Amino acid sequence: MKLGVNIDHIAVLREARKINDPDPIEALGILKRSGADQVTIHLREDRRHINDADAEKIIKMSQLPVNLECSTDSDIIDIVCRLKPHRATLVPEKREEVTTEGGLDIITYEERVIEAIERLQAYEIEVSLFIDPDLEIITRSDALNVEWVELHTGSFANIYAMLYLGLANSHHSIEELELSRHTLRTKLEESLVALKSGADLAASMGLKVAAGHGLNYQNVSEILKIEAIEELNIGQSIVARSVFTGLESAIKEMKALLN
Ligand code: PXP
Repeated sequence: MKLGVNIDHIAVLREARKINDPDPIEALGILKRSGADQVTIHLREDRRHINDADAEKIIKMSQLPVNLECSTDSDIIDIVCRLKPHRATLVPEKREEVTTEGGLDIITYEERVIEAIERLQAYEIEVSLFIDPDLEIITRSDALNVEWVELHTGSFANIYAMLYLGLANSHHSIEELELSRHTLRTKLEESLVALKSGADLAASMGLKVAAGHGLNYQNVSEILKIEAIEELNIGQSIVARSVFTGLESAIKEMKALLN
């Protein structure tokens, strides 16, 4: 299984102080040494983490392929065409959301999506659509002649978190929080069936299949059972864990300077 590591959260930490540190560029060598297969970044319209200069440097300097997530906004597509990453993943984007919620609605926004795909492919950029694991959407994605689909695992991850990790967060509606464990188990099973049937259908049509959103060290084993998925894009859980796995050496280094 290939791993794309989403490094946006490194830039989130930098933006909290509006200084230069930590610079996501420094992660490139670490990703390569650690066996990651791809660097994934999201150039959001509000530039809340990765900015244009980051994206440009990352695409120029990365020895791994870069997967640039972006909306279908035409100004953003202009930038992506100029930067020429290996792949562009079209995602839905709302300014008020904390992270990408739900897959791209390629039915309502078909014209915009087609225009973005055609412009990107004219620059020889592979295109992926970040979509819900819905059979109709997958069939329509295939008709759009994209190379990849990335199946949204957020719904699976939310149910998994409620069932096994005792986590409830602002993404969960009141109705979701009141579900019984039995109902949650059924819903988890349904979400996995949807991901598996979606991945199988996409692969049978010749699409390459990625998946991502909300995957972590606990829930990823369920997704690994789906053979048709060949790549996962994971950000939050890896960066969150790295804070703790790296904290000890960071403190020791400072302490050595102080002594
Ligand atoms: N894939 C896509 C298309 C995304 O938008 C994101 C979040 O930026 C991810 C994967 C990674 O999600 P997470 O940070 O929850 O691992």
